[in-house]
Amino acid sequence: MTLPAVIVPHPAPATPPSTIDGPNFAARLIAWQKLYGRHALPWQKTRDAYRVWLSEIMLQQTQVAAVIPYYCRFLERFPDMPALAAAPEDDVLALWSGLGYYSRARNLHRAARLIMDRHGGAFPGQFEAIVALPGIGRSTAAAISVFAFSQRRAILDGNAKRVFARQFGVEGYPGEACVAARLWLIADTELPQSDVKAYTQGLMDLGATLCKRTQPVCARCPVATTCVALALGRVKMLPQRKAAQALPLKQTTMLIIRDRGLIMLQKRPPRGVWAALWCFPECPPGVDLPSYCLRAFGLSVAPQQPYPKLAHGFTHFRLDITPQPLTVIERQERLSDARHLWLSAEDALRVGIPAPVRKLLAAETIAPLFRAVAD
Ligand code: ADE
Repeated sequence: MTLPAVIVPHPAPATPPSTIDGPNFAARLIAWQKLYGRHALPWQKTRDAYRVWLSEIMLQQTQVAAVIPYYCRFLERFPDMPALAAAPEDDVLALWSGLGYYSRARNLHRAARLIMDRHGGAFPGQFEAIVALPGIGRSTAAAISVFAFSQRRAILDGNAKRVFARQFGVEGYPGEACVAARLWLIADTELPQSDVKAYTQGLMDLGATLCKRTQPVCARCPVATTCVALALGRVKMLPQRKAAQALPLKQTTMLIIRDRGLIMLQKRPPRGVWAALWCFPECPPGVDLPSYCLRAFGLSVAPQQPYPKLAHGFTHFRLDITPQPLTVIERQERLSDARHLWLSAEDALRVGIPAPVRKLLAAETIAPLFRAVAD
């Protein structure tokens, strides 16, 4: 018999068959969480629903390390529901300053007032009542139900979506209704009968520490042997990202009006973009700045050279910002109504401000240092 000229290798079996028949997904995740998961996060030391709720809201779209100092400061200032409900919205936004996604803070505050009115100040324990509160979706309501009320509910936060999409090979963008429905079905089906807290924390911990979006650590994953994405070489591709869209581009000019070490901020309207946050006043591109400032604020100003443009992305559009510094030469009367503040850059960084305003103010605080070095 003659050998074939070319030996075509068989593809190696993707998953060793012997390890597929291990205990089920949930059992392995629970065992792993108990051994290797996180057990000392500040909100894990309590079952107080107010604290659990606060942690889950802060942890939406924000990583644990960033949340911890905000969570501790927030509880020092607002230790319970009555304290939060009684606070002015501005104080709540100020404590959120730098954490971003301020609608979370506004909804938290609204929900605290609703809970005082409708539930006598006690955080409701029923899932339907929890999910009816502002700022709380199905997954957050489930996490609160599990951690504060020991209920059996399935979560599907960003980490869980990633773990499930990879483990069960779910193709498609999770923002699409049919893909989300498949993921929710998996979340409900895999939910164990007991040990739901360790399981839920396990999904969050696995997604945050091993099953990461970039550089996943599959070699240490407790459910790697049954991971469809790993078997198919699709870990980096799942979950699928949203198809890139060309978003409309808008332009604005932000007025950095300085008067002897103080900067003017203006309160945004209560609805819409950056609702109720403090911002530099804006004007349309191309207006005559001195006459605009005289009319709008009663200030005679001298414009300086604009700073380089800043790009900011929203979900539905991109914003190109031209930062325009101006110095007050003379003022009729400094506006001192509820919509205007004059603050040093350092103090302005402590109120509720959007990310691009934070960047510009941070530059203001270091500019004197540069000046001192240059002098
Ligand atoms: N992400 C969302 N909720 C969380 C929690 N309770 N612990 C850690 N990460 C989380």
